[in-house]
Amino acid sequence: MANFLSLSDAGPASLRAILDAAHARKAARDGRPKGAADADAPLAGHVLASIFEKPSTRTRLSFEIAMRQLGGSAITLAAGDLQLGRGETVEDTARVMSGFVDAVMVRARDHGDLVAFARAADVPVINGLTDRSHPCQAVADLMTVEERLGRPVAGTRWAWLGDGNNVAHSLIEAAGLMGFGMRLGVPRGHEPDAGFVAAARARGANVEIVHEPFAAAEGADVVVTDTWVSMGQEGGAAKIEAMRPFQVGPMIMASAAPHALFLHCLPAHRGEEVTDSVLDGPQSAAWLEAENRVHAQKAVLLWALGRL
Ligand code: CP
Ligand code: NVA
Repeated sequence: MANFLSLSDAGPASLRAILDAAHARKAARDGRPKGAADADAPLAGHVLASIFEKPSTRTRLSFEIAMRQLGGSAITLAAGDLQLGRGETVEDTARVMSGFVDAVMVRARDHGDLVAFARAADVPVINGLTDRSHPCQAVADLMTVEERLGRPVAGTRWAWLGDGNNVAHSLIEAAGLMGFGMRLGVPRGHEPDAGFVAAARARGANVEIVHEPFAAAEGADVVVTDTWVSMGQEGGAAKIEAMRPFQVGPMIMASAAPHALFLHCLPAHRGEEVTDSVLDGPQSAAWLEAENRVHAQKAVLLWALGRL
């Protein structure tokens, strides 16, 4: 049993095992109705609780459906509805929940609260997005690239355009663990956390930061972007203006490799970080990426519960 607060909690071998399990379980479902359990129902009798401090469509749905398909069940809680909202501590909440459920997924505003929750819990805790990272999204992204390109993600070249945010951090971490290259095209002042970049480089990954969008996209196998203003961040017209040259449109996709995929964790802000033509176009894997959240989450749950 282990926490999944970051991709590094798993490490390269376990991350490979998680991806392999995600691909295999997806293939094995072979047209079953979406709510039907997998043939082996490996988490029968298990219950996951998920706490959301911020809104969610994909993460909430994918964890609920994942538990159903693994033969278990899920309880979804809005943080504001818990006594947490009236001042019960994160640690006390974690201790109490550990007595009720087999695992907890947390979407937290502050990564420090997730870490505090995990320290006090004695069941596995999974990061469902914080201000710092989004590791479950990265697993679905890796899975999607392998599925669409038909090859392991190692050795591929990724371009990130826009804000150096939580999702970018987890992909940089993935680059270090899985051995692929990332060139991030970001406006000055919106670079990713230097610690993530240094850690990926220390593992041998080629991670570059550039301040020009085409320099980032040129020849890439995968082009990724995300919202310019993340949940809980101050927006501000100045940030949006700084981001505008980094919009992923047809010219950016034309400068990437001919077979390049477009990824977006969603929700998209059409006309800002991506044009309709790219998001809805033939190179977009964003819809498959969203669907793959459920398959990725199932493998993460199995790993955290010691079933991989
Ligand atoms: N991509 C993602 O995590 O989406 P939600 O915010 O809808 O969960
Ligand atoms: N970076 C975005 C991702 C949403 C899934 C945010 O944190 O709002």
